[in-house]
Amino acid sequence: MSLLNKFFGREKEEETTMEKLNIGIILGSTREGRLSPQVGNWVKELADQRGDANYTVIDLAEYKLPLLGESGADASGAAAWAEVIAKQDGFVFIVQEYNHSITASLKNALDYLRAEWNNKAAGIVSYGSVGGARATEHLRGILGELLVADVRVHPALSLFTDFENGADFKPAAVQADSVNQMLDQLLPWSTALKTIR
Ligand SMILES: Cc1cc2nc3c(=O)[nH]c(=O)nc-3n(C[C@H](O)[C@H](O)[C@H](O)COP(=O)(O)O)c2cc1C
Repeated sequence: MSLLNKFFGREKEEETTMEKLNIGIILGSTREGRLSPQVGNWVKELADQRGDANYTVIDLAEYKLPLLGESGADASGAAAWAEVIAKQDGFVFIVQEYNHSITASLKNALDYLRAEWNNKAAGIVSYGSVGGARATEHLRGILGELLVADVRVHPALSLFTDFENGADFKPAAVQADSVNQMLDQLLPWSTALKTIR
């Protein structure tokens, strides 16, 4: 910190520029045998190579959230869920298509919180028989209600061509470019929205 900057009150500005954003990579499925950890870890590897933010895989399954408001259910994971989401400046949702929409577990986890999501940005990486496109469009509508700004670039993975036998994740080379283009949009939006929180 130079004396000149201190004098002109640029201290805060400099600190903000230097701080890395926190980006949570949220695994949207919780079923046994799910494919989402393979996809989430791949996104994290690509993201970490950029070194431009603190990327964390957030595994929904660890929080064991019961249905919102379910009587008699153990909702002890809810506080930790709120805490981890509150810490993030932006998100990458790993989305899988279930009956043309997102998983019930992801919808439930989104419904749990409000302020913790508000005024943040998100990118979506999806998979399914048609790349998880229908689930992604549903998620975009939900994110709008939660004041989450979702970026345009959307890596869409095919269960037929990006997974061997629909199970072993072997993404086509072009998909990594798509993830980087999505992150190129996500980071500036996450930075911008931080200024209004
Ligand atoms: C209940 C259920 C419904 C599904 N519906 C669709 C669907 O509508 N469209 C689609 O492309 N794939 C569908 N699939 C296939 C899933 O996208 C595929 O199994 C994927 O691996 C699920 O993600 P996960 O392994 O992370 O749970 C469905 C799978 C399940 C379990």
